Amino acid sequence: MAVEMHAGLASEGGSKLKMLLTYVDNLPSGSEKGTYYALDLGGTYFRVLRVELGGQKSSILDQYVERQPIPEQLMSGRSEELFDFIAESLQQFVEKGNDSEQFSSRKELGFTFSFPVKQTSVSSGILIKWTKGFAIKDMVAKEVAGGLQQALVRKGLNMRVTVLVNDTVGTLALGHYHDADTVAAVIIGTGTNACYWERTDAIIKCQGLLTASGGMVVNMEWGNFWSSHLPRTSYDIELDAESPNSNDQGFEKMISGMYLGDIVRRVILRMSEESDIFGPVSSSLSSPFALTTPSMAAMHEDDSPELTEVARILKGVLEIPDVPLKARKLVVKVCDVVTRRAARLAAAGIVGILKKIGRDGSGGITGGRSRSDIKMRRTVVAVEGSLYTEYTMFREYLHEALHEILGEEISQHVIIKVSEDGSGIGAALLAASHSSRSVDNVQ
Ligand code: GLC
Repeated sequence: MAVEMHAGLASEGGSKLKMLLTYVDNLPSGSEKGTYYALDLGGTYFRVLRVELGGQKSSILDQYVERQPIPEQLMSGRSEELFDFIAESLQQFVEKGNDSEQFSSRKELGFTFSFPVKQTSVSSGILIKWTKGFAIKDMVAKEVAGGLQQALVRKGLNMRVTVLVNDTVGTLALGHYHDADTVAAVIIGTGTNACYWERTDAIIKCQGLLTASGGMVVNMEWGNFWSSHLPRTSYDIELDAESPNSNDQGFEKMISGMYLGDIVRRVILRMSEESDIFGPVSSSLSSPFALTTPSMAAMHEDDSPELTEVARILKGVLEIPDVPLKARKLVVKVCDVVTRRAARLAAAGIVGILKKIGRDGSGGITGGRSRSDIKMRRTVVAVEGSLYTEYTMFREYLHEALHEILGEEISQHVIIKVSEDGSGIGAALLAASHSSRSVDNVQ
C-alpha cells in the first residue's frame, strides 16, 4: 500500500491508487460560526443535514440529520432526475426546519459525493467513474457540483454549493475539528476508502503546488488498490467478473459491506452444489446479492446454542429450510473467515498510510534507529461506516490486526476514533471554513 501510494503521487496514472487532490488545504479550526447545510450521497442512504456552529472551540450547537434510502431506479437513471430528487429532499428539509433566517440570506452547502472525482477546485470536480453499483451514464466525465447547483436553482433554493468533497474528507474534517491529532480518515461501509493529510512537496505529480499550510488532503480511492499479494479466491474472481465494474475496485470488493454478504453466498452456493448438506440447491442462493451483509453479520453474531438466527436467515432469506446444526456452524465459520479477511486487509491498509507518513514506528525517513528510540506521536485515524460501527466482529478483528502489525508499544499511540455522521457534518464544517463570510473574516 505504501509503495503504491508513492507511485500514485509520483505521476498521473502511476498506480491503481489514484491519490486524488482535494484542494482542501486547511481543516476546520473550531472557530467556524453559523448555520450550514450538507448533502451526503454515495452509500446506501442519502442524508440531508443542518449544523449550527458556535464559533468557539469546536462547538456544534445543534445538528439535525435526516436519512433516507436512495430509490434504486435513480441509481441508474438520468443525472437530472437524481439531482432533482436531492434538491427536492433538501427543500423539504429546509421548509420543515426552524432556521429563522431561512430565506433571507443565501446559505452555504457542503456536498459530500462519495465517488472518485477529479477536483478542479474545492467546490468543483469531474466524476471519473461510478462505484458501488451506481451507473448514471450521462454523469461520467461531467462536472458534479454544477449539476446540483442547477437543480437548487430550479427549486428556487437560495443556496450555494461551497464545497464538493469525498466522504473520507468530510470524516477527516470532523475528526480534526474535535481532535487536532487526526491525520487520516477511513470509510468502511457500502464501499471503502481512505484519505490523509499529505505534504504538498510529496505530491510530485503536481510540481509547484503551493498551499499556505504546506499540505493538502489526498483522497486515495484505496478501494481500487490492487496487488498480486492480495489473498484472492475463485469467489472473488467470479464476483468481480459478474460485477458492472470488473477489474476495478478490487480491494473494495474484498472488504466493504456491498460485497461481503455476496462472497458468503457464493461459498454456501458452492458447498450446496458440491454436497448435500444444504439439501437441493435453492434458487435464491443463486441470485446475486440475495444475502446482504447485515444478514451475514446477524448469522455471524448468533450466540444462541442452536443457532436459531442462522436457521431463520437461511430459511427466510436464502430459502434453505431445515439445515442441520453442523451445517449451520459451517455457515458461521464461513462468515467468520470472510469478515476476518476483510478486517485484516483494512487494518493493513491503515498501517500502509501510517508507514507512508512515518507514523508506524518504523522510523520512516529518520531510519536506522531502533523502534524504542523513536518518540511516537499520538496519531488519530477517524473511521466511519456501518461495517466498522455496527459489525462487532469486524471491528474486533480490525483492532486485533492493527495491534498485531504495529506491536504493543506503537499501537498505544494509534487511536481509531469513530466520527459519527462525519462525512456529512464534516462537509458542513468545510462549507463553513470555505464560506465567503469566513473569507471576509480572515481579510
Ligand atoms: C467508493 C468510492 C469512494 C468512497 C468509498 C466509501 O470506494 O469510490 O469515493 O469514498 O466508496 O464510500
